Amino acid sequence: MERIWLSPPHMGPAERELLMEAFDSNWIAPLGPHVNGFEAEIAAYAGVDHAAALSSGTAALQLALLLLGVGPGDDVLTSSFTFAATANAVKYVGANPVFIDSDEYWNMDPQLLEDELASARAAGRRVGAVLAVDLYGQCPDYDALNQVCDRYDVPLVEDAAESLGSTSKGKKAGTLGCMGVYSFHGNKIITTSGGGMLISNRQDWIERARFLATQARDPAPHYQHSTVGYNFRLSNLLAAVGRGQLQVLDDRVAARQAIYDRYLAAFEGVDGLTMMPTPDWCKPNRWLSCFTVDEEQFGVDREVIRLRLEGQQIECRPLWKPMHQQPVFADCRSRVSGVSEGLFKVGLCLPSGSSLTEEQQQRIIGEVLAAR
Ligand SMILES: Cc1ncc(COP(=O)(O)O)c(C=O)c1O
Repeated sequence: MERIWLSPPHMGPAERELLMEAFDSNWIAPLGPHVNGFEAEIAAYAGVDHAAALSSGTAALQLALLLLGVGPGDDVLTSSFTFAATANAVKYVGANPVFIDSDEYWNMDPQLLEDELASARAAGRRVGAVLAVDLYGQCPDYDALNQVCDRYDVPLVEDAAESLGSTSKGKKAGTLGCMGVYSFHGNKIITTSGGGMLISNRQDWIERARFLATQARDPAPHYQHSTVGYNFRLSNLLAAVGRGQLQVLDDRVAARQAIYDRYLAAFEGVDGLTMMPTPDWCKPNRWLSCFTVDEEQFGVDREVIRLRLEGQQIECRPLWKPMHQQPVFADCRSRVSGVSEGLFKVGLCLPSGSSLTEEQQQRIIGEVLAAR
């Protein structure tokens, strides 16, 4: 039986052509014209002035925090309901992640953020940054989050690793804080096999990011260093793939939206199955189509569905396990309402790749419904 993957890479002829062109030009690494081109094209797509192409989204998160001067002893308030990379980046700079729970749209709850900022201020803890995540391609209410952050004079970074191609109130995901981070990991809506991008309107930040990401070489003919640097740049070969992928990003979003719409139509009349709710301010890229299961109404729980799909060679995943429940972050502060813990118990991500055929999707839908 052919295995259906959750979110596999989806390549086209432009990617192959650009990759071969980069290969034949011998701009293999480090850097090269495709890196500059990819940065310029991502910046133009997002509508920001500057972008730095990096080896991963995680590296971009780490650099964003470093650029803001976040360091040991600082708190960074971040979404609990996310992939571990978000919280790991906070640890890499020596800061303390503080986990904020989700609201009814699954993203960071602005009220809980405000409560935690007030408590940090009262206790005299320095908050270096707020790092908000766009979960599964959907944006939280950035107007509300930015207002809270402004009141406490804390910079807001957007982890848009999952949301390239989404918009919120007409603005591109990634541009809703002072810096934004994209990921081109193999499971993302477009991929370079691995890679990331840091974007901002601040030229000094992005130039400093490029400097830090290339081993922090001072301007001198010999190797001279006054700062600890990192090896975080994207290779020219991978940037070439990224440029090809970016040409079809809007098609990829449309394909994933069609997949979401078919799941929605199939499950709408079914008691106990509810697709991830979409707030009216966000037009998501539908990176992953996810739903929750009410065992009493549907008849069986999420695990029964998950195991049935796995048995039928259909890859699916429970929603992210919240960071405040992860053993590695057990000693971190958190402000928890129970929302993400509840979602983790009952939620499932379904195959959502833009190359998924209608026939494959009908097979998935059939297996979900037959799990009862
Ligand atoms: C929310 C989130 N943040 C950060 C990352 C890290 O990106 P990367 O894998 O490019 O390091 C990912 C996914 O991989 C992610 O889903």
